[in-house]
Amino acid sequence: MTALLDVKNLSTHFFTPAGVIKAVDDVTFQLGEGETLGLVGESGCGKSVTALSIMRLVPDPPGRIVGGSMEFMGRDLRTLTDPEMRDIRGRSIGMIF
Ligand SMILES: Nc1ncnc2c1ncn2[C@@H]1O[C@H](COP(=O)(O)OP(=O)(O)OP(=O)(O)O)[C@@H](O)[C@H]1O
Ligand SMILES: [Mg+2]
Repeated sequence: MTALLDVKNLSTHFFTPAGVIKAVDDVTFQLGEGETLGLVGESGCGKSVTALSIMRLVPDPPGRIVGGSMEFMGRDLRTLTDPEMRDIRGRSIGMIF
């Protein structure tokens, strides 16, 4: 069965004057319909940037998704147009800040 959300080898980096921060480094997980997934880890380990990457809301610059794939209901979130992505954000994927 296809996962609802399929994240493979996701890497998101921040290119700062002080150097490259590998905020998300090769992260892979799947989420099925009806499932709940919690990401747990110490402060700064990349939980928020993982979520922001899926929403395509990483501030660019300095941040950029540099590798991996993110599929939602079989659609490649990395290559959707901005209007398509806005539609998904409004209807299918939400974020409580
Ligand atoms: N806009 C940014 N510019 C530079 N570095 C950033 C930026 N946003 C996040 N980072 C860095 O990315 C890394 C991951 O941060 P993130 O906010 O994802 O951590 P977190 O796991 O959500 O932490 P917390 O539990 O404190 O919320 C950290 O090293 C952070 O300093
Ligand atoms: Mg956070």
